[in-house]
Amino acid sequence: MRRPLIAGNWKLNGLQSAAVTLAAAIREGVTRDSRTEVLVCPPFTAIGVVSAALKDTGIAVGGQDLHWQDSGAFTGEVSGAMLADLGCRYVIVGHSERRQFFGETDEWVGKKLRAAQAAGLEPIVCVGERLEEREGNVTEAVIGRQLDGALAGLSKEQMSKLTVAYEPVWAIGTGKVATPSQAQEVHAFIRARLGTLSDGATAREVRILYGGSVNPENIRGLMEQTDVNGALVGGASLKADSFLKIVRC
Ligand code: 13P
Repeated sequence: MRRPLIAGNWKLNGLQSAAVTLAAAIREGVTRDSRTEVLVCPPFTAIGVVSAALKDTGIAVGGQDLHWQDSGAFTGEVSGAMLADLGCRYVIVGHSERRQFFGETDEWVGKKLRAAQAAGLEPIVCVGERLEEREGNVTEAVIGRQLDGALAGLSKEQMSKLTVAYEPVWAIGTGKVATPSQAQEVHAFIRARLGTLSDGATAREVRILYGGSVNPENIRGLMEQTDVNGALVGGASLKADSFLKIVRC
């Protein structure tokens, strides 16, 4: 198992100047021997300047989405090769906001994660249930379907290089974080399902991040859980101070 990963998803925030200021402040606070691996995912337009600001620091840069085609007549889209060309090492795939607002399906998520790996990027595949699904006791059915739909047919090697993020939709941007035991329960389910889709040893190599209202106060309890291998942070990643506290959890 690799170091835990703390990733900041900046979403639709930050003109280039603000993004560079934030990246520079994060750079000042992260040491090379950090116990956690650190990743920031700026909007597409700021990736170039953030990559330049973080060059040779060990802090990774990622995209928030990609298209599965390398090139062609796909107006508005960005490919894995384009992200890699800007210095990205990672890319988020299947975020619930993409699923909810842009109609992203499990099939697309599967195509995108394969395209990301083919371009030499590490995909972070997001899954998570909505509030009514949790209340209807179908959380595992929903997440199982999301995983099967996107990951079925991956080789063990492809699977071992994945990162999965469990982001319950009801916890995103709401201040309502999952309790450590709620997170652990779903993370354990995800790891078992990855094992079914490959094998137990492969599944144990996959980092499973928690996302949804993570902040400096709640990160420690989450990270103490056996199957929580890092965090995908939204709002609290937009301020260097709170993001660095999470990184040092
Ligand atoms: P918040 O941390 O703002 O709840 O967002 C989580 C998220 O969606 C990260 O991808």
